[in-house]
Amino acid sequence: MASNNGYILLTGRANPKLAKDIAKILKKELLEPITIFSDGEIRVRIARNLRRRHVFIIQPTCPPCVNDYIMELILMIDAVKRASASEIIAVIPYFGYSRQDRKEMPRVPISASAIASMIEHTGANRIVTVDIHAEQEEGFIRSPWDNLYASYSLLPVIKSRNLKNLVVASPDKGGVVRATGYAKLLDAEGIAIVYKQRDINVNDKSESQIIIGDVVGKDVLLVDDLISTGGTIINAGDYIKERGARSVRAAVTHQLFTGSAFESVTNSAIEEFIITDTVAVRNEVVKHKKITVVSVAPLLAQAISRIESGESISKDLIL
Ligand code: R5P
Repeated sequence: MASNNGYILLTGRANPKLAKDIAKILKKELLEPITIFSDGEIRVRIARNLRRRHVFIIQPTCPPCVNDYIMELILMIDAVKRASASEIIAVIPYFGYSRQDRKEMPRVPISASAIASMIEHTGANRIVTVDIHAEQEEGFIRSPWDNLYASYSLLPVIKSRNLKNLVVASPDKGGVVRATGYAKLLDAEGIAIVYKQRDINVNDKSESQIIIGDVVGKDVLLVDDLISTGGTIINAGDYIKERGARSVRAAVTHQLFTGSAFESVTNSAIEEFIITDTVAVRNEVVKHKKITVVSVAPLLAQAISRIESGESISKDLIL
């Protein structure tokens, strides 16, 4: 009788390179079941038996087509569920809408919660993310949600820069816990916080205002979960440099580079941006002399392998 062992890897169109890199590390075949009908509708067809299999679907829900990529994910989960897979794991390296995690004004949705529920209700038994915007989002669903930290991938590169009198800075008050975590792991001299005032009536607009902590003469590492317009981190970096830092670098997990963010990188006082490939990295970004791209493929491959074998994820992987 044929054996039905072994898990299956699937991906949509959001970041096939990352999915291929993960599959290569795991020495597994990667299925790419998405095509598009002439009217724009998504078609999913999986050419493998999935009955009683564990299926990992790798799909960040990111720009440039965040809503299409969410729809691809939902339809892949539905196809896998109806094909009688025994477990469906949605590996979502960047979770789109995760910044909309609470009602910050009346009559708005909690979009991250709505999307997480949709993923779970369609059939996912587990979600895996990297540096989700707010860890309490794990509570939006009843199923397990493993959030990994990109620090596992970023730290070796940061350490190789031999930064002196290191201060780890957060570009806003929401990132203080992250900055404190990096400061500990890097044995930094201290932390600094740039206090940012955001106008909630204007989409994406932000301003740096005051700084808490000593940055004079220090090598400063700004850490953040994502760069979108670039406003937050670039304003903070410029401000820190004006306040007398010796150097300013940034380590950012998710690079979206929307609008004119990419041009702002060139003109910013931040001398290096260390980013990851949770979101597909455009060629111009890879080639930019201020940008270093670190892959999270080894981290995600390890996580998939441990979920499959029933080993701990927090041991060594979550730094
Ligand atoms: C804010 O809470 C986030 O952690 C990021 O700092 C922010 O969303 C980045 O957005 P932008 O690059 O558009 O300022």
